[in-house]
Amino acid sequence: MKFFIDTADLDEIREANDLGVLDGVTTNPSLCYKVGVRNFEKHVATICDIVDGDVSAEVIATEYDAIMDEAHSLAKIADNVVVKVPLIKEGIKAIKTLSDEGIRTNCTLCFSATQALLAAKAGATYISPFIGRIDDISSDGMQLIADVVTIYTNYGYETEVLAASVRHPMHVMEAARLGADVATMPMKVINQLLKHPLTDNGLERFLNDWDALQESIKQDKVAT
Ligand code: E4P
Repeated sequence: MKFFIDTADLDEIREANDLGVLDGVTTNPSLCYKVGVRNFEKHVATICDIVDGDVSAEVIATEYDAIMDEAHSLAKIADNVVVKVPLIKEGIKAIKTLSDEGIRTNCTLCFSATQALLAAKAGATYISPFIGRIDDISSDGMQLIADVVTIYTNYGYETEVLAASVRHPMHVMEAARLGADVATMPMKVINQLLKHPLTDNGLERFLNDWDALQESIKQDKVAT
């Protein structure tokens, strides 16, 4: 399973990248607003320099011609840019053309399996079902991941399932169990994946016992 970080914060991207297990980055306009990005294309270029893997940069346009213009500009920034396009009619049309041109896309704001089917047929590189936002409205985000994985497997679509809107470690665990290709998550969730109180307690005990052993060796030497 590939791990992407879902942020536009350069410090967080560096921190996750330093772990050595980061496969890419997803950004969106809200994440850019959160960190006060001033020059979007320059910011994307900086992220692409930090990370070797795929970096999703989202178009703002909602009409086919304007989406295509933005997509072409974004794709020129670096080889690892993936153009993020919303799952609307004009977006699907643009994804089909971009795919024919060899430009990689991440089809975002997916909330149903039929939407995901259309994205795959259009040739999207990634489909991003938003698990957390579905859970937020008392529905089952993970069921969408399961449905999309099944449908893509049934027909051999190459579009990768990118579990998005991930809020906690169980989302990552369940998405992995269902066979999602990628999970994109905030830095907080990456840290949560790592932590276990029994690991911390166990390590503390090992280190204390090691100190006690050294002390007993020292006492033996004094006695002889
Ligand atoms: C995915 O690419 C989106 O940027 C993101 O996962 C949305 O997450 P949110 O629902 O927490 O805003």
